[in-house]
Amino acid sequence: MNATLPNPDAQPLMLRVLAGETTERPPIWFMRQAGRYLPEYLELRAKAPDFIAFCLNPEMAAEATLQPMRRYAFDAAIVFADILLLPGALGQKVWFQAGEGPKLGPLPELATMEAEIEASTARLANVGETLGRVRAVLEPERALIGFAGAPWTVATYMIEGGSSDRSRARTYAYEHPEALDRLLDILVEASARYLAMQAANGAQVLQIFESWAEGLPEDLFQRLVIGPHVKLLARVRELGVTIPVIGFPRGAGALAEGYAAQVPMNAVALDTQASAEMGRRIQSITAIQGALDPLLLRAGGKALDARVETLLHQWGGGRYIFNLGHGIILDTPPEHVGRVVARVTGKQGWGG
Ligand code: CP3
Repeated sequence: MNATLPNPDAQPLMLRVLAGETTERPPIWFMRQAGRYLPEYLELRAKAPDFIAFCLNPEMAAEATLQPMRRYAFDAAIVFADILLLPGALGQKVWFQAGEGPKLGPLPELATMEAEIEASTARLANVGETLGRVRAVLEPERALIGFAGAPWTVATYMIEGGSSDRSRARTYAYEHPEALDRLLDILVEASARYLAMQAANGAQVLQIFESWAEGLPEDLFQRLVIGPHVKLLARVRELGVTIPVIGFPRGAGALAEGYAAQVPMNAVALDTQASAEMGRRIQSITAIQGALDPLLLRAGGKALDARVETLLHQWGGGRYIFNLGHGIILDTPPEHVGRVVARVTGKQGWGG
């Protein structure tokens, strides 16, 4: 076989790392790689009446997913959707106010939501259609990622009615432990089915976004993060899903190590604070992903170049997926993204 021609049967680099290989270079993708920092996204987004309608329009969502893939040599695409589609599908009102972020209506009765779990997956069928459309045109060497919010993170939005400092949700966990555990169980089951539906429609990797693991005392971290992630992963496997799963306990700090040891994820995504040593220790258990600071990506310049080299050096010798420690910030210059992707992949754009 001619080694210089691309092999159509080649496994995407991302899947090789998730299968336990240390690859010749780390694969790269960025959280929020689709979005408002791209002018073509803003143009497309202006055609939809609201953000939820945009996410649930397979044609538009597939186009948004593919926009960064055309510009950059990313090794994976992530389906364009949002973690807050699930509360909407369970019957809670969810809307996005321009410039204000998400808003949610009153929390429905738990019994009502329990009865809606099965229907919730069907209400998200359009996300499956988006995945199918993307997979049909994405090059075979590039992986497709599906995702869901983690139960605790989604519960914080459901309890608080939007973005906040999460103090109400944490107080709720102390004052109403039984109700909270029941809500987490509802989210575990609904998310497991939602993720299985995404796998059935072409997702090759799944990521669980626990965006608000920060500030939790160890016992709460065990109860609200580790416990539900173990259950969710077990349930996803029980539903017959065999593709790799990445867990992202953002803000876990030193507790990320216990997370990696207790939750059998195929990779653990690290946030901007993760130390080189902790990352290497986790690499002895599973693959890691992360952890470039999105503020540095936005700032650019020599400091960005130097940090990229440091990350490649400190983690590139093991199972490593290059990524940010959190999502791309909206006023990030697209050239900075291009520069990092070119450095990591050695390619200016896909195919060249
Ligand atoms: O490119 C990708 O990463 C895929 C798409 C994606 C979005 N949201 C699109 C989006 C993904 C993976 C998410 C996950 C998500 N959504 C998380 C977890 C990751 C994280 O950032 O911590 C969370 C907490 C949400 C909830 C959410 N969605 C908030 C708090 C907001 C408002 C804040 C903001 O950035 O505006 C959103 C809106 C949202 N989700 C936008 C995008 C592109 C911006 C809205 C718009 O374009 O009109």
